Amino acid sequence: MPPRILGTTQSELIEAAGAIQCGELVAIPTETVYGLAADALSNTACAKIFALKRRPANDPLIVHISSVSQLSMVAVLSVDLSPIVDILATAFWPGPLTMVLPAAPCVPSTVTAGSQTIGVRMPRHSVARTIIELAARPLAAPSANMFGSISPTRAEDVATEFIESDLLIIDGGPCNVGIESTVLLIAENCLTILRRGQVTEQMLEAVLMENALSHVRIEARALSMSSIQANEAVPSPGQFLRHYSPQTPCYLVMKGGPALPGAVRTTLPARLNGFVMVLDCNPALAELGPDAIFTRLADILPEGTEPAQLLRVYSAPTLEAVAQGLFGALRRVDRLGPACILILPPEPVRGLAGALLDRLFRAASGHWVE
Ligand code: TXA
Ligand code: MG
Repeated sequence: MPPRILGTTQSELIEAAGAIQCGELVAIPTETVYGLAADALSNTACAKIFALKRRPANDPLIVHISSVSQLSMVAVLSVDLSPIVDILATAFWPGPLTMVLPAAPCVPSTVTAGSQTIGVRMPRHSVARTIIELAARPLAAPSANMFGSISPTRAEDVATEFIESDLLIIDGGPCNVGIESTVLLIAENCLTILRRGQVTEQMLEAVLMENALSHVRIEARALSMSSIQANEAVPSPGQFLRHYSPQTPCYLVMKGGPALPGAVRTTLPARLNGFVMVLDCNPALAELGPDAIFTRLADILPEGTEPAQLLRVYSAPTLEAVAQGLFGALRRVDRLGPACILILPPEPVRGLAGALLDRLFRAASGHWVE
């Protein structure tokens, strides 16, 4: 039986919540990307997530709550951690921030991947929150894609990923953030960004300053980790270098390349079997037409290739619009079957552009050309 897509009427959301209470999986919209949700306190339900996604057991799940009072169901907040968690929750919840905290003993080890910590977030999407409330339990939900593939930002993308399953999918329309949440490891004196997202280092800094917490350090974990062994809990195992990967070879176009570990400078193959797709993810190029962009790429494109095509991922010249359009564009381009994809990343790399470069770097498996 193929996946079944439902809308967001009260009765449809009640059906979704009922399925979750019975230990089934349901794909739900959130403001970041679609999630593959299950009862976070049920080991057997969460095991189904890993099986359906073919996700390695060492990659922990994020748990979604609908009110701050549910936090104590899944995390243990010491007196040292409580103040900073309160401040961050007030500033960024509901929204795209996941806090990694000490896990409560009742959280199944399937969810924590044996790490003793738990990633928690309160989504902003009203449909996600309603389903959590109706199911009356926290929901574990990774992005609703096969392991290593592109996160889905529309219900149809989820259906395509799991076409051979009878998954129930709630269609809440396209996700308006478009990239996954910022994952932040919380300690009393240090916040470590494990995955970049729309909540940026600069936004975290501002909130610490406003709350007289300037002694709390912010660290950003290096973007790439290429050699993670299976079956051991690692600091943020989802940060595999090959992630968000389209089937088509992708290359970042960047003068000097990205200053990231694992970056590999390369050149395009001399003979390409098909056309080159140029993916414009840089709003600063919005004014330039395709020809002006292809002229800039003349040194990179091998001679004698078919004319290149241009796809702009943004509908307005902002980084937010790039984030919104990015994953859908990668999926579309991949289906068109070009010989390769040249990605023009946003510049300069700070704030949200850093989160976008992270996704693009992974889509390109670290390969760049100039
Ligand atoms: O926006 C999002 O975060 C979406 C939506 C559905 O909420 N979820 C999502 O989940 O992206 P997932 O599983 O695809 O990515 C979660 C990331 C992974 O890189 C995982 O390793 C990391 O968060 N993570 C989860 N729990 C963790 C923990 N306890 N410690 C360290 N990293 C953790
Ligand atoms: Mg994911």
